[in-house]
Amino acid sequence: MENVETTLMNKRILTFIVNGKKCEVAVAPNSTLAQVIREDLNLTGTKVGCDMGTCGCCTVIADGRPRLACLTLAHEFEGSRIETVESLNDKTMHPIQRAWAECGGSQCGYCTPGFIMTTKHLLDHNPNPSREEMKEALAGNLCRCTGFVKIYDAVERAAKELRTGAPVVVSPAPDEVRV
Ligand code: FES
Ligand code: FES
Repeated sequence: MENVETTLMNKRILTFIVNGKKCEVAVAPNSTLAQVIREDLNLTGTKVGCDMGTCGCCTVIADGRPRLACLTLAHEFEGSRIETVESLNDKTMHPIQRAWAECGGSQCGYCTPGFIMTTKHLLDHNPNPSREEMKEALAGNLCRCTGFVKIYDAVERAAKELRTGAPVVVSPAPDEVRV
């Protein structure tokens, strides 16, 4: 079995651009991108659910493409530009995050960062997706809680806000009206 010393000796310094910042990290040959993001860079917004490429929780955008960070070795991304969910809220919530909160697109929230990053990629390329296009784009992201309708509502609301530049006014549902 590989001991700690051997593992340390096998580490290589890799450079990534993560959320616009250059980062140098000593990475073991078998470290996944998710491990580097969460454990070395402390960006714990990226979640690991299944850890085997089936749930989409760990989705980040690497060089402009959504990638499953649990399934890919960090070494593949040397020099890459990686965007995690932390890139979205500089000082205020990003319209996609706000739409998720306002539409109830998040319940336990574990799947949410992955959905949000996949949605970011979708809306960057298709500012006005149909429901069918949303379903297709988000097919690799699984949620056990919401039933998906609220997630598609959130994508629609975020798309509208990003297209028009104006926040979408939320009307309370009838059972939420307080008198
Ligand atoms: S944690 Fe990566 S796909 Fe599930
Ligand atoms: S909100 Fe719980 S898994 Fe999606």
